[in-house]
Amino acid sequence: MGRVGLGVAVGCAVVTCAIAAALVRRRARSWLRWGREVAVVEGFEEGCATPVGRLRQVVDAMAVEMYAGLASDGGSKLKMLLTFVETLPDGDEDGIYYALDLGATTCQVLRIQLGGRGSKIINHKVEQHQIPQELASSTSEELFDFISLTLKEFVEREENGIDQVTDERKELGFTFSFPIRQLSISSGVLIKWTKGFAIEDVVGKDVSRCLEEAMSRNGLNMRVGALVNDTVGTLALGHYYDKDTVAAVIIGTGTNACYVERSDALIKSQGLLTNSGGMVVNMEWGNFWSAHLPKTSYDIALDDESPNRNEQGFEKMISGMYLGEIVRRVLHRIAEESDIFGESAYHLSVPFILRTPLMAAMHEDDSPNLREVGRILEEQFQMPGISLKARMLVVRVCDIVTRRAARLTAAGIIGILKKIGRDGISGVASGRAKGKPKRSVVAIERGLYTNYSIFREYMNEAITDILGEEIAQNVVLRVAEDGSGIGAALLIATYSSKR
Ligand code: BGC
Repeated sequence: MGRVGLGVAVGCAVVTCAIAAALVRRRARSWLRWGREVAVVEGFEEGCATPVGRLRQVVDAMAVEMYAGLASDGGSKLKMLLTFVETLPDGDEDGIYYALDLGATTCQVLRIQLGGRGSKIINHKVEQHQIPQELASSTSEELFDFISLTLKEFVEREENGIDQVTDERKELGFTFSFPIRQLSISSGVLIKWTKGFAIEDVVGKDVSRCLEEAMSRNGLNMRVGALVNDTVGTLALGHYYDKDTVAAVIIGTGTNACYVERSDALIKSQGLLTNSGGMVVNMEWGNFWSAHLPKTSYDIALDDESPNRNEQGFEKMISGMYLGEIVRRVLHRIAEESDIFGESAYHLSVPFILRTPLMAAMHEDDSPNLREVGRILEEQFQMPGISLKARMLVVRVCDIVTRRAARLTAAGIIGILKKIGRDGISGVASGRAKGKPKRSVVAIERGLYTNYSIFREYMNEAITDILGEEIAQNVVLRVAEDGSGIGAALLIATYSSKR
């Protein structure tokens, strides 16, 4: 080989070595980064841990806070609101009743026909209407005009155009799914908005009056006969079908629970009550807080940037409005640490872009190569070509967030059962005799439980973890479909027969 040949060969070898070294460096860097994103997920998972010991602490904290909230107003973050519902429907009601159910994203109008003893609900018609997003921050008049007109059109369709103005004044069940300080079974003032609503001129007002004024403005001859929280409606429907129903839980966009409390435990209501021996209490558990709740830096940031900082802490960890957003925050952090989501990862910086139903769809993708996850990332977030490894990481984050939420929800439910001496363990604390635990039915509603099977499985698993298999068999979670609205109509039926 001549000098020139040797020079070329050496040069090639140098270039080859340099390329190889660069490749190795790049791979090492990418593994290092891959290591970093895994570290982000592992750190998050550790922060979200809900071992059974911690769940039991949450159970105890829930029961303790319930006592405190019942003792005095402001005694706890749990408001423990009196509802004035002392009798629950039992199947004997009859007649035709209407209800209007204002939720977070939808408004339902419905009519039920009850057949009296034994025949249950003969007929029911429910219509669901989307609430235009801008109404959530509009004015009282705009919101109540919208819902009363929706109701009016429904009633007219149902009654085939009979003129309501000349008709006998009907009583309406009004489900209003925000914290209300009830003045009676049919009236109450809004304490504060939750779930992204912010119509300041309603706060402090009697929402039944607001609706009645709007109905009269719009020519609908009705009055509010029962004003109920969605949990209370759900409990009413649950009880209508099964007398062992003692509590109800809503786990959808927002979350809350109510239950039947003995009157002697309603310490703060002294003098006001009650003939029947018990009353339904709206806990407003979305605002529950305890140092035992596993809070991460992502939860703190979410809360800091929310319009209702330091409020609805439990809701921000477990409800549908927030689960997708927590996942988005973790994925965004991963994208900052690595390039596994490619150049389009900046889409992940948009708050609330990942809604919980999409998160659930990714989580429940059981195709071998996570095709659905890839499709959602591409179509909804313009993030094409995400590797299988990265898709697996996305699913893992969804799982961590959902598992924590489901297990904490389960702990909340056992906390209620503990407070009323139905957890099969706490007979002494509740002042009741220990013995075979009674069957306790908890009516449950809304999408996180009804449409998200992994959430449901984690919840059921946690109930067994906390109570043990034998006792857990006495706790029955039963879906009360459309309970929030139907229950309000049932309560009108129950109370109008008493008036
Ligand atoms: C509200 C509750 C409601 C729950 C479920 C919460 O944000 O404060 O009143 O029951 O959402 O809709």
